[in-house]
Amino acid sequence: MVLTPVPAKAQQLYQELGGREGISQLVESLILEIATDDRIIHYFADADIDRFHEMLTLHICEVTGGPCTYTGAPMPEVHRGMAISASEFNALVEDLIAAMEAEKIPVGTQNKLLAILAAMRDDVIRL
Ligand code: HEM
Repeated sequence: MVLTPVPAKAQQLYQELGGREGISQLVESLILEIATDDRIIHYFADADIDRFHEMLTLHICEVTGGPCTYTGAPMPEVHRGMAISASEFNALVEDLIAAMEAEKIPVGTQNKLLAILAAMRDDVIRL
């Protein structure tokens, strides 16, 4: 089997976030933020948080160029029926920013991740 290496440039954001370990830690911080966010915590009442942690870590690893393969369901499928509003989406973005601040991720790196996630907005809201 021939493994094609991912070019260093493509992996840059993944590396900036501290690789798999850094992303896992960031998702942990995000979960702590969500847990105290009355605007959106109700969505997670029945969620399997260990799975959410693992799947979001894999997802972020993959979309930032890391050597991971996301094995969860596609974004629209996951969020269909939740009817997440635009302001609830923004609430989660605020929680993510707070988590990135807590993890001392530089603002330039924060903005790169936010740009990638913002592009997925229509796959998550009003479904
Ligand atoms: C770009 C933004 C978002 C991304 C990339 C994202 C990504 C994910 C991923 C990867 C999962 C795990 C899927 C699986 O287990 O197969 C998930 C689950 C979930 N997401 Fe999102 N999400 C986003 C926005 C939101 C927002 C704004 C909310 C609510 C306000 C939300 C609520 C949930 C809930 C409740 C689950 C757990 C579903 C369950 O296990 O039953 N997500 N999301």
